[in-house]
Amino acid sequence: MNIIPIHSQRMPQSIADGFGRNMGYLRISVVDRCNLRCTYCRPNGDDFHAVAREQLLTFEEIIRVARLATQLGVHKIRLTGGEPLVRKGLVDAVAQIAALPDVRDLALSTNGILLKKFAKPLRNAGLHRVNISLDSLNPRTFEKLTGGGRLNEVLAGIHAAQDAGLTPIRINTVLVRGFNDQEAAALIDFSVREQLELRFIELMPMCEGLDWKRHYYPFAELLTQAEIIERVDLSLSQRQGSSSARYVPLRHTLGRIGLIEPMSNHFCDSCNRLRLMSDGKLRPCLSADQEVDLRAALRKGCDNETLLDLIRLATANKQKLSTYHFDSMGMQRSMIAIGG
Ligand code: 5AD
Ligand code: SF4
Repeated sequence: MNIIPIHSQRMPQSIADGFGRNMGYLRISVVDRCNLRCTYCRPNGDDFHAVAREQLLTFEEIIRVARLATQLGVHKIRLTGGEPLVRKGLVDAVAQIAALPDVRDLALSTNGILLKKFAKPLRNAGLHRVNISLDSLNPRTFEKLTGGGRLNEVLAGIHAAQDAGLTPIRINTVLVRGFNDQEAAALIDFSVREQLELRFIELMPMCEGLDWKRHYYPFAELLTQAEIIERVDLSLSQRQGSSSARYVPLRHTLGRIGLIEPMSNHFCDSCNRLRLMSDGKLRPCLSADQEVDLRAALRKGCDNETLLDLIRLATANKQKLSTYHFDSMGMQRSMIAIGG
């Protein structure tokens, strides 16, 4: 007789929000500190929003929430920050999350600075893949955009991720007018050479220190650059499943680039994400401050049913549409606080 493992006998429930979207994807920010100071995230370089250590969820708490979320149909988990690799104990936590029975896709978003050291141990712990931020291939522009970051370290991190098999590797590039908007074609060529999947992201107004309207570079404009038209076949762009990106095939080679347009082309219809912030707030939408405080519940000793109800509550609170628009918004909380 075949013994069926307990977890496959249980049909995970799925939780849908009020608009029929099933929450299959949990993004977990493990820390709100970072070893870079990107212009569009924390130009003043201070950590004023960093919560005190005891207010960060412990890994034990994070893993408990992750396990419960998988009982509600979450099967994809991404660890983010701040910069997740600056938190001690991350590799062990990855191993425990990877061992959860219903996690089919476990990814990490990183700025790549520490990846040279961590790529192999993360892979051995069960991490499937990484997204790496890379905004410029010019060391000086990179340094300006990241507040002193060294390009070489990120390139070494990318190669370490390739060697460790943390694939497919995605590169995320935020295009910032006046900094790197003319570097898009060079980044595409780099991604083809290195067999990386490149995704451009529109700048969001999430940081007081940067004049967003001056630096916002809409992708309608990117797609008029002759060097870009030469490289991509726009007539074939398409969105797949719940991805935040629309993908555009490359013309002269296999491969594609992704365009993530949080300002000009919302992907709310297919959004399946919940975000667990490092301070234990569960946030159903990047663009809205409706949060449910899981840390308070965890530390009051709540049972699993209560926690499941709170996850359901956050889901029920998920709004239909992003509030991000060119004209109708003020500055939002920075990505370093929410989780990139
Ligand atoms: N606009 C767009 N993307 C941002 N990120 C952080 N701040 C912003 C912003 N203002 C994203 C970048 C970065 C990741 C950590 O979060 O992709 O690589
Ligand atoms: Fe750090 Fe990412 Fe913010 Fe840059 S964007 S400062 S890498 S958290």
